[in-house]
Amino acid sequence: MFSTNTKIKNNIYDLAIFSKIPAFPEKLHVGRPNIGGRENLLARINDMLDRKWLTNHGQFVQEFEKKIAEYIGVKHCIATCNGTIALELAIRALGLTGEVLVPSFTFIATAHALQWQEITPVFCDIDPKTHTIDPYRLQQMITPRTSGIIGVHVWGNPCNVEALTQIAEQNNLKLMFDAAHAFGCSYKKQMIGKFGEAEVFSFHATKFINAFEGGAIVTNNDDLAEKIRLMTNFGFAGLDNVIYIGTNGKMNEASAAMGLTSLESLDEFIEVNYRNYQCYQNELADIVGVSLFAYHKEEHSNYQYIILEINEALTGVNRDTLVKILEAENVIARRYFYPGCHRMEPYRSYFPHAGLLLPETEKLTQQVMLLPTGTSIDGESIVKICHMIHFIVKNANSINRALVKPLSSETEQKNTLSP
Ligand SMILES: Cc1ncc(COP(=O)(O)O)c(C=O)c1O
Repeated sequence: MFSTNTKIKNNIYDLAIFSKIPAFPEKLHVGRPNIGGRENLLARINDMLDRKWLTNHGQFVQEFEKKIAEYIGVKHCIATCNGTIALELAIRALGLTGEVLVPSFTFIATAHALQWQEITPVFCDIDPKTHTIDPYRLQQMITPRTSGIIGVHVWGNPCNVEALTQIAEQNNLKLMFDAAHAFGCSYKKQMIGKFGEAEVFSFHATKFINAFEGGAIVTNNDDLAEKIRLMTNFGFAGLDNVIYIGTNGKMNEASAAMGLTSLESLDEFIEVNYRNYQCYQNELADIVGVSLFAYHKEEHSNYQYIILEINEALTGVNRDTLVKILEAENVIARRYFYPGCHRMEPYRSYFPHAGLLLPETEKLTQQVMLLPTGTSIDGESIVKICHMIHFIVKNANSINRALVKPLSSETEQKNTLSP
């Protein structure tokens, strides 16, 4: 399976956690940005400078919004400075109040966007197969204070949109989606962005399509779109005319220039991500206890995330140890969304027992790790990473034993200093 030059570890003491010689000379990160056509970006930046129009719904932002709306097949797109502000704007414009049901297995911004406006995020467990909010459990958590639901299409894997829509309709709740991961993905062959009252994308540097920092709200609701557009620009309806409370959520022209450039490479990014995903899939197929999250074959996916679930009972090595060993090799694997929003402040203090209702979230946050992918990693490096994972699992017992032996002070220091 592996070419001999990738067989770099013959002995457990060859592992960098012991030997201090990493497999990779430079760190391989999760979420290294896809850059796209540098020349096109620089031409746009020059154009922007020549025109001396840097922000305030300029030409590039308008073009970016149009392209996003067309790509998804939705009426309105409002570009924003980031995904978090986009969530806050959508939540506010929808008039959510009291309690809103959200998964805890998400990036903290989903919960913060509510709490920032003194709306209580009520954490609902996930379906372990899809990693998205479980509609069955969600139904049981609706109270008279519930005003809405925010589903999160984690990894670009769609929520059970149909079930959530039905629950929202039956209970007169507003439904929106955090689609931060899901640009270029589909649900039942329809592009994500069309569902609920509104959906929110992130175009942060680590995302599939990036605008350095950026976000967008997409909706088919004319009134909602108008309200959000006003709110994004302080509530200005025209010069000297503020008709609404608002904030500064505008995307700037340099970000839109990057966003447009990124969109031009969309097919290439998917191709590269898919190739990497297939490579991981082939190389990790026969490791018992290590499962690679599988994207729906029949849906569009951006394949932006390589997600492993580590079952310690089968591998003999736990997720955290695996992450630490890989980190020493300069493979900066990440624990997402560890430890879960409900275990972070202020939610941990507000709801100290939330975990009791979140068994699947608790389990998954102990098992999930992400591996590097995207345009900055090549197939050979992926094979090498997989070889190391094979090696670690095969030698789990002796590695565990060796790890509990006191390390030399130099090794200890190095491990403490790792980010
Ligand atoms: C699920 C999720 N929601 C919201 C956000 C916030 O987006 P941004 O970083 O653009 O503010 C992110 C990512 O960063 C995310 O992963």
